[in-house]
Amino acid sequence: MIDLTTPTTINWTPQKIAALVRPNLLDLKAYSSARSEFKGVAEVLLDANESPWETGRNRYPDPNSTALREAFGKIRNFNPDQIVWGNGSDELVDQITRIFCNPGEAVHALPPTFGMYKVAAGIAGAEFRATTLTKDFTIPVDELKASWDDKSKILWLCSPNNPSGNAIDGEVLEDLIRSFPGIVVLDEAYIDFVPELSFVPRLAEFPNLIITQTLSKGWGMAGIRCGAAFASPFIIGMLNTIKMPYNINVLTTGVALEALSQPAAMQEKVDTLIAERKRLERALWELEIVNHVFPSVTNFLLVRFKDSAKVYQALLDQGIVVRNQAYQPNAENCLRITAGLVEENDRLLGALKNIQ
Ligand SMILES: Cc1ncc(COP(=O)(O)O)c(C=O)c1O
Repeated sequence: MIDLTTPTTINWTPQKIAALVRPNLLDLKAYSSARSEFKGVAEVLLDANESPWETGRNRYPDPNSTALREAFGKIRNFNPDQIVWGNGSDELVDQITRIFCNPGEAVHALPPTFGMYKVAAGIAGAEFRATTLTKDFTIPVDELKASWDDKSKILWLCSPNNPSGNAIDGEVLEDLIRSFPGIVVLDEAYIDFVPELSFVPRLAEFPNLIITQTLSKGWGMAGIRCGAAFASPFIIGMLNTIKMPYNINVLTTGVALEALSQPAAMQEKVDTLIAERKRLERALWELEIVNHVFPSVTNFLLVRFKDSAKVYQALLDQGIVVRNQAYQPNAENCLRITAGLVEENDRLLGALKNIQ
């Protein structure tokens, strides 16, 4: 049991949050287009050196992704002014790291986890401090807390976590957000498979919290690259300051708006994938070659095989690609398997049954 009574809660003032930002960014003026400065009804657009023939794509997109923010704000019941869209949440991971980390400052993460946190730290010249999850992929809270110091800027928490598939306990999450002396980013990429666990409704309680989500998983839109960040107005302002002005293009915007207008269609697919994940889990436990199937609340399973290298190659030989995770700490002999269509999952199970 962790002790949640220790007086670790930080009293965040706006000044303390601003002090976490790289100083040169605090005075940076965002790129501004004539159209975003103009108030009123624009009838003739001769300001942006665009082509005048209307094709639906001859104009630059809205730099603020207003329609998309409003649509997602409605779905998440959250103020659209406190949302910013990125070219996938990958872009947001990079932007968040560059806002807060001077070279030599530290980001913390809990492997095995999503790989982009480390890549973004490398790009920014930040130190990547890893605290390995326990063997059942829970957070060793005391060890993590002992690893942070005055260089610590960002703590990446991924819940549900990729590749382990489990979610972080709500009390642990709250304790870490309240006690970390910097920005906590909660990556909710897989939250559409367990929406009741989202911290978005509670974001206002935590001035140092940023939450990221994506249309790539439950919404089925990985190809259009669309991820969102939810945060305080100040942090959203910083993200808007450093982002490229037209990072969400008109084609992406149109497709995303269409998807967001059909939440029931998304839910049906999510429900199907959850049922398939459960079916896969039961079938995998039956196989001799499987050592362990880790409990998952996502659209994938982390599976420990007796010999993962052999299974990985045997599946590849049959044209089935899964993700090798055996190189990650505490994930020896593990493969990550995404739930696919019913017939794809049947084909996977058939192939696995033929491996001795
Ligand atoms: C935990 C996690 N976060 C973020 C991402 C990236 O999402 P996006 O497609 O929005 O860049 C992924 C993709 O696999 C992921 O697993």
